[in-house]
Amino acid sequence: MRSQGRFRRLSGSRQLATVFGLVVLCASSAAIAQMISELTGPVPPMRPIPAPPIPKWVTNDVRVMRAFPDQPPVIPHSIEGYQLTVNTNRCLSCHKREFTVGSGAPMISVTHYMTRDGQMLADVAPRRYFCTACHVPQADVVPLVKNTFRDMSELGFKPTGSE
Ligand code: HEC
Ligand code: HEC
Repeated sequence: MRSQGRFRRLSGSRQLATVFGLVVLCASSAAIAQMISELTGPVPPMRPIPAPPIPKWVTNDVRVMRAFPDQPPVIPHSIEGYQLTVNTNRCLSCHKREFTVGSGAPMISVTHYMTRDGQMLADVAPRRYFCTACHVPQADVVPLVKNTFRDMSELGFKPTGSE
C-alpha cells in the first residue's frame, strides 16, 4: 500500500543524498548567518560605534514623476520641523484646498476628501490626515537593494494620442 511504502528504509544512495543535503544546508545557513549583522549590536556590547552620517534630503522643489499613476507623490521639499499631530497639521496649512492660492502648493487630490466608501467630506478624511504615512521625502543614497523596476510606458504599448 502507498502509506506503508513511505516508511520503507531509505536505500543506500538515498541515504547518501540525504546526508549530502544536510551538509549543504548547514554550510549555507552558516554562510547566511555571517552575512547578517549581530542583532545584539556591537561586540563587546555597549561599545561606542561611530554613527553613520544622516543622509541629505532632496529639497530642490522639483516635483518628481510618479512611477505609476496612483502612486502617492514623493515630497520634493524640506519637512524639517513641520508639526503633524492630532491638533496641528502643518502640511494642510499649504496643501488644503482653501490655502493653495496663497501657498502655491498643489492641492491634495479629491481622494483625500473621500471616506473609504467614496462619500465626499467637506474636510480631509481622517484616513488621509497623517500625510507622512504615504508621502515621504527622498534622500540621495545608494539603494539597499538593486531595483529592476521598469516604467509601464516602456513595456511596449502604443500611447493614447501618439498619432
Ligand atoms: C509652506 C507650504 C508647504 C508646506 C507646509 C508643505 N508643503 Fe508640500 N508642497 C508645497 C509646494 C509649494 C509644493 C510644490 C513643489 C515645491 O515647490 O516644493 C509642494 C509639493 C508637495 C508634494 C509633491 C506633490 C506632487 O504632485 O508632486 C507633496 C507630496 C507634498 N508637498 C507633501 C507635503 C507634506 C506631507 C507636508 C507636511 C509634512 C507638506 N507637503 C508641507 C508647499 C508646502
Ligand atoms: C493613505 C495614503 C495617503 C495619505 C495619508 C495622504 N495621501 Fe496624498 N496622495 C496619496 C495618493 C495615493 C495620491 C495619488 C493618487 C490620488 O490622488 O489619490 C496622493 C496625492 C497627493 C497629492 C498630489 C495631488 C495631485 O492632484 O497632484 C498631494 C499634494 C498630496 N497627496 C498631499 C497630501 C497631504 C498634504 C496629505 C496629508 C494631509 C496627504 N496627501 C495624505 C496617498 C495619501
